[in-house]
Amino acid sequence: MLIEKVKSIPGWLHDVAGHATTALLAYQTQMGRSGPVVEIGVFGGRYLALLADQANAAGDRTIGIDIYIYIDEETVLKNLQSVGIATGSVSLVRADSTGLDAAAFLAMSGGKPRFVSVDGDHAANAVYRDLMIVRDTMARDGICAIDDFLNPLAFGVNEGVNRLFFEGASGELRPVCYTGGKLFVAFPEHVERYQSVLEAFAREDLSVPETARFRELAAQNRAYVMQPLFGHEVLVIGER
Ligand SMILES: C[S@@+](CC[C@H](N)C(=O)[O-])C[C@H]1O[C@@H](n2cnc3c(N)ncnc32)[C@H](O)[C@@H]1O
Repeated sequence: MLIEKVKSIPGWLHDVAGHATTALLAYQTQMGRSGPVVEIGVFGGRYLALLADQANAAGDRTIGIDIYIYIDEETVLKNLQSVGIATGSVSLVRADSTGLDAAAFLAMSGGKPRFVSVDGDHAANAVYRDLMIVRDTMARDGICAIDDFLNPLAFGVNEGVNRLFFEGASGELRPVCYTGGKLFVAFPEHVERYQSVLEAFAREDLSVPETARFRELAAQNRAYVMQPLFGHEVLVIGER
């Protein structure tokens, strides 16, 4: 299984977040939805491998934006290939995301992305800026994964996300689900649909402990797995 294989690539990814992401992208493909899949902050390409696998299956492009000072582009491409990912439709773009505006981001992506992973600079200002770009460029029916939300080793991410929502800069973005360190956000008319996809995954999955915990908590009280955040109900999968 790819989620096991990508562990050979340097990086960070909780299994449950990998499975949830795969479920979301597969759902988009099943619905006939196509469009670029973009990650800000690639490092070795661990998460990008999962994204590219799903994008390739749908005939879509994958774009990885990074400053590439820790691991270079050639190595990332080799990492993807080492786990069986064809890289013909993968573009790695060397850029500081905090210096981009919406037009530059769209030009790099080649259109409005259907999926964006925000995992670049974890400083509050940078996260805030990256998310404003997502707000302004993501396809209306797209979804964005913000990594390291609630991670005490990356307080800047929380600060950036909180500021975005409390200062009213989030526009129409709404929180959808929190799982495996990732907060997923989407536009309002698609929130319920994505929550249904993720809840179906959490109810059916037998491979990770977080989904078992979800079922246990959901059976006790629905309020344990639907938590209010920024004034909206968010599905929580796997809180201990
Ligand atoms: C936590 S790592 C990303 C982990 C990766 N998503 C994975 O699957 O393991 C953060 C990455 O963000 C990149 N980065 C940091 N600041 C950035 C910036 N301003 N613009 C683009 N990328 C940046 C770093 O080079 C690093 O590769």
